Amino acid sequence: MFQVLVTGGCGFIGSNFVRHLLTTRNDVVVTNLDKLTYAGNPQNLADVADKPRYQFIEGDIADAKIVRVAARKKDAIFNFAAESHVDRSIHDSTVFVRTNVLGTQVLLDAAREMHVSRYIQISTDEVYGSLGPTGYFTEESRIAPNSPYSASKAAADLLVQSYIHTFGLNANITRCSNNYGPWQFPEKLIPLFITNLLRDQAVPIYGLGRNIRDWIHVLDHCTAIEAVWREGKPGATYNIGGECELTNMQVTEKLLAILAKPHSLICHVVDRPGHDARYAIDCSKIKSELGWRPQIHFDKGLHETVRWYAEHSRWVEEIRNGEYRNYYQKQYGQVA
Ligand code: NAD
Ligand code: DAU
Repeated sequence: MFQVLVTGGCGFIGSNFVRHLLTTRNDVVVTNLDKLTYAGNPQNLADVADKPRYQFIEGDIADAKIVRVAARKKDAIFNFAAESHVDRSIHDSTVFVRTNVLGTQVLLDAAREMHVSRYIQISTDEVYGSLGPTGYFTEESRIAPNSPYSASKAAADLLVQSYIHTFGLNANITRCSNNYGPWQFPEKLIPLFITNLLRDQAVPIYGLGRNIRDWIHVLDHCTAIEAVWREGKPGATYNIGGECELTNMQVTEKLLAILAKPHSLICHVVDRPGHDARYAIDCSKIKSELGWRPQIHFDKGLHETVRWYAEHSRWVEEIRNGEYRNYYQKQYGQVA
């Protein structure tokens, strides 16, 4: 049996990863350490929470005491816990530095102290900054973050690299592109737009909607992380991407088509400050070294995601009736 610690397992990607491990393997025992911030929702794991191979600890990754307990006798730590939304980091970056930087350092120390065999830092392509119209991010691209969120993730990556170099910690960093799929908090582009369109509410496109993101289904991200755990070279960084570049306007048009909604629901709003123009991942390293490939075609994954949100209206409503209301008002100047 492998004993693993997943942090941030009640969030979007973490919950998909925990479910993936518990449902596709019978040799893994998962401890999930999550602070249950606005983005952490135990409902995301309600269908697997009573499995004997699952344990939940409510706690903060920046709390060394609790982290030390959670990391004891673990074979691996997967750090998903983070403040993850760029727009919130523009409002206030304090908690981004605390969780993303200090929290990572606390986990790294615990991994050393508890002799955890492998530490995996779930990072992001945003640490590379922004691309022009051509080219791709490779693992050798310069770290050049532009938002407080991506700066905090880059700082965490540098800490991981320093622990690999200084202490010989067996760690990997994964840098993935934009995820979509079930259980994503509706502050992010795709679930925000789906949940608004399902209610015939306008969708706020920043600027002209020409910014490009490289979309990957969350389950493809999960299989990539599992491959890195299984066979990643000690100390290596792996880029993960969906090889699916789209402008925000293209994504919006696909959603309007799936939901049969009119273009009049598009609303151009003031642009995000410092908005990165384009992300595009070269993931040839993980493909050639670990034999991983993204499997879920965007159009199919998007249809299924729209259906998922339509079928989970209670989950959505509970979020929309909570703290989300204040956030939406602050960000978009209107009630959700
Ligand atoms: P999310 O915001 O949906 O979930 C974050 C989770 O972390 C929540 O459950 C929250 O309660 C928990 N958390 C926050 N602060 C914590 C703390 N101090 N201690 C313990 N738990 C805490 O995020 P997500 O979209 O699932 O992203 C997960 C990770 O993947 C993040 O590290 C993010 O940077 C990275 N990432 C995300 C994407 C994406 O497209 N969403 C892409 C690449 C990488
Ligand atoms: O690239 C990986 C990153 O992807 C992750 O590290 C982040 O955690 C994740 O949030 C995501 O960051 P983005 O900023 O790219 O995602 P977001 O969904 O916020 O925005 C995607 C694009 O859509 C971006 O160009 C901004 C635009 N956008 C977003 C929102 C929320 C809009 O036009 N309107 C909106 O209301």
